[in-house]
Amino acid sequence: MNDQSNARQQWISHRAEAEKTLRKKAAQARFGKVRRIRGTARLFERLIMGTPLYKRGLANAASPRLVKKDMVFSTLPAAFNGYTVLHLTDLHLDFIPDLAERICRLVKGVNPDLCVMTGDYVTEFRDDVYKGILGGMEQIVSAVNAEDGTCATLGNHDTWRMVDPFEHLGIRVLLNETYGIRRKNTGIAVTGVDDPHEFLTAGAIQALKAQAENSEGKKFKIALVHTPELYQEAGESGCDLYLAGHTHGGQICLPGGIPLVLHLNKGHRYGKGQWRYRSMTGYTSQGAGAVGIPVRLNTFSEITLITLYSAAIMENKNGSI
Ligand SMILES: [Fe+2]
Repeated sequence: MNDQSNARQQWISHRAEAEKTLRKKAAQARFGKVRRIRGTARLFERLIMGTPLYKRGLANAASPRLVKKDMVFSTLPAAFNGYTVLHLTDLHLDFIPDLAERICRLVKGVNPDLCVMTGDYVTEFRDDVYKGILGGMEQIVSAVNAEDGTCATLGNHDTWRMVDPFEHLGIRVLLNETYGIRRKNTGIAVTGVDDPHEFLTAGAIQALKAQAENSEGKKFKIALVHTPELYQEAGESGCDLYLAGHTHGGQICLPGGIPLVLHLNKGHRYGKGQWRYRSMTGYTSQGAGAVGIPVRLNTFSEITLITLYSAAIMENKNGSI
């Protein structure tokens, strides 16, 4: 067994233990915060069920949109100017029927260079639920058909049991690991790490730092993290772009898209949309699915197509950025 497969085995053993502990805690915590929030959401669902508001909420949750973002970086190698990254997160495929088919229709013809996924493929935190979504995941990966493949991290709803089946589908699951993409003599480094909300280990921080330490001053660095809660560590490790999900943009929001709950322990200001921490750009997607209740209010489900541009090339073209 080489060093990499040793490290992966260790990661899996650790995560398996952590999942067991979390499940035990969740079963015991009758009045925990998550249960309170879910209970309130279900009560709210019963109150609005059958009303036009409920119908609108169901339609919002079941109709993801393709959001296009252009991002300009002074650190992006010229060979990657125009490089496209399709970001999918919080699919919760076991929760909304037909969501995989809807996503497939949405990505048809997009042909991104790279596809990245930042966790929460399922909702139900049980051992075998993931088996029911593998067909949907296979359809999505094949419809996306990204030239440089698909990279993924796990979220707090996911299980270590998904790692092997996902890899069989051609999804490269990054367990505090980095995937390198080369064009000419330059490269992009994509580092996927632990979900910081429930399953953070020292290995995640090491992976972000190692990515910085190993770079030769020419690699553009992308961090894939389930939540935005590692913004500080990633920013200080020299990451250029940080992609996250988890918050669903609040899912049930006040008018104007103001979230009531983001389920974050820190970094609430980075809980939705594009943000900046020091020289790092971040994007927290609202996610493609829903959790708790199949409803979204004053927000929408999204998948995101990000096009990376080199500042130097854009300046030459336009005279300014
Ligand atoms: Fe999550």
